[in-house]
Amino acid sequence: MSIQENCRVVENTRLGEGLYLMVLDAPEIVKLTQCGQFVHIACGEGHLLRRPISICTWQGSHLRIVFQVKGDGTKWLSERKVGDVLDVLGPLGHGFDVQALGDRPIFIGGGIGVPPMLGCVRTAVEKGAQPAAILGFRNKGAVILEGDFRDECETFVTTDDGTYARHGFVTDVLKEQVAGATGVAACGPKPMLKAIAAIAKEAGVPCQVSMEERMGCGIGACLVCACALKSENGETRYGHVCKDGPVFNAEEVEW
Ligand code: FES
Repeated sequence: MSIQENCRVVENTRLGEGLYLMVLDAPEIVKLTQCGQFVHIACGEGHLLRRPISICTWQGSHLRIVFQVKGDGTKWLSERKVGDVLDVLGPLGHGFDVQALGDRPIFIGGGIGVPPMLGCVRTAVEKGAQPAAILGFRNKGAVILEGDFRDECETFVTTDDGTYARHGFVTDVLKEQVAGATGVAACGPKPMLKAIAAIAKEAGVPCQVSMEERMGCGIGACLVCACALKSENGETRYGHVCKDGPVFNAEEVEW
């Protein structure tokens, strides 16, 4: 279930190059939110253009999102001031099934895929699990939310160019840590998700992935976000990332 709510901007902070953290007062949407879901925010005059932004965390009536400026819509969003009111639709999509990931889940985020994993970590901790997080970034300037993760769980950080923390990829850490894991969940670019799914499969550990796709309507009414999935008889079928996902069992995805 999702609703449309007019949400007041409580905070809009620049986190780094083109990256913003926004807190919205969304008392009705937070009541329904689960980790891995997203909101669809009307961006711009006339509010014709909506942009999907994944939910980072939620507390009380506040919803925290982190977004990257990629075009006119997200640029408009980055210029909003405290007190402005936004037209927000959410929570949308199917999130992560944290329960199915067991007592020692590993949550992996790559780049702008990092923020939604913080909500997952918190959900797992609330359920009594002992999660770990692996966060991958391009370089030192792109590192976000590291302290928030460290406050919650054991956290590993990698950078592609070695300018901060471990030089390498999230998959290098996962290969070392997967033996003790009861489940793996990940959000980030598709090649990263594919590599993670293969490592989890080899280790015999369940894996859930959140797919980043271009979106239009956000509610299953257009075909912009189609992704190839495997049906039970092995044939390819197409699903909507916005409605059937964004989270899928890795085994379901046609890589
Ligand atoms: Fe329109 Fe998914 S964005 S069907």
